[in-house]
Amino acid sequence: MNASATPAFREKYGPWALVAGASDGVGAAFAETIARHGVDVVLLARREEVLRQVAEGIRSRTGRRARAVTIDLSTADAVDSIVDATADLDIGLLVYCAGSDADYKPFLENSIAAAAAMLQRNCLVPMQLAHHYGRAMAERGRGGIMVLSSGAAFVGAPNMVAYGATKAFDMIFTEALWCEWRDVGVDVLGVVLGETDTPALRRIRAARGIAGPDEPVPGAAGVDEVVTAAFAALGKGPTCMAGKQIRRGARLIYPIPRGALVRAMAWASRRRL
Ligand SMILES: NC(=O)c1ccc[n+]([C@@H]2O[C@H](COP(=O)([O-])OP(=O)(O)OC[C@H]3O[C@@H](n4cnc5c(N)ncnc54)[C@H](OP(=O)(O)O)[C@@H]3O)[C@@H](O)[C@H]2O)c1
Repeated sequence: MNASATPAFREKYGPWALVAGASDGVGAAFAETIARHGVDVVLLARREEVLRQVAEGIRSRTGRRARAVTIDLSTADAVDSIVDATADLDIGLLVYCAGSDADYKPFLENSIAAAAAMLQRNCLVPMQLAHHYGRAMAERGRGGIMVLSSGAAFVGAPNMVAYGATKAFDMIFTEALWCEWRDVGVDVLGVVLGETDTPALRRIRAARGIAGPDEPVPGAAGVDEVVTAAFAALGKGPTCMAGKQIRRGARLIYPIPRGALVRAMAWASRRRL
């Protein structure tokens, strides 16, 4: 990733960023890019040793501070623990990545407990974190929030009933928040991914017998491509279709770009009040 420390970035989004799902894939790449822009990072994920190594790598390559917090984001007390672990820090940027679904099966073949845990991790926790850290950002008049969504948010489809619904929540949530906070200096961005070659996707494909372990995903976007697209879009609009593949798909499904739809909706709802 080609990024170097920029005082303007640190001033707007520093001094600390919180990255949820930072032990591999898109989240780890976001964390490293943020650190290269001069902002210290708090990394959240479940695998303690993997997360420790990612933090160590970021420290040694960027010279920024990196705090690793081991946590399961699908548990009820996740937000309280995160708030405790960051009580001494000013969080200026929240990036919520953790969200993929390994259970690609019909609705009734998955347990309701697994679906509820996904709802917790993909919807409730990012909403609670946005409420907590976003309030401080709004009071300071600066900051940013990015939440990862998916092409699965566009249209309901089998085998990802709960997953697609949580990703639709994430997309609408960020668009609406963007409308409310765009005038107070807090940049909200929904980052919508199509198929992206991450360790999580490789594991899912291997578990389903589609590919061998660690086999690259043909035709998928690269992690750097989507992170670069998200950074370029931060501060410019409510939703970023991150990567060539998802941009093409979104253009077919939405002849009117989502950014224009969101602006039109904001205008129409203001007129009605
Ligand atoms: N890859 C794709 O093709 C694709 C396509 C569309 C949308 N997306 C979206 O892009 C985002 C990133 O996807 P990804 O492929 O990188 O896989 P991911 O599984 O969403 O993210 C992997 C990261 O999340 C952490 N994580 C997962 N569950 C967690 C939990 N319960 N608590 C704490 N950390 C957790 C993992 O660390 P630990 O295992 O150490 O906890 C790892 O650091 C997701 O929101 C996904 O929905 C991805």
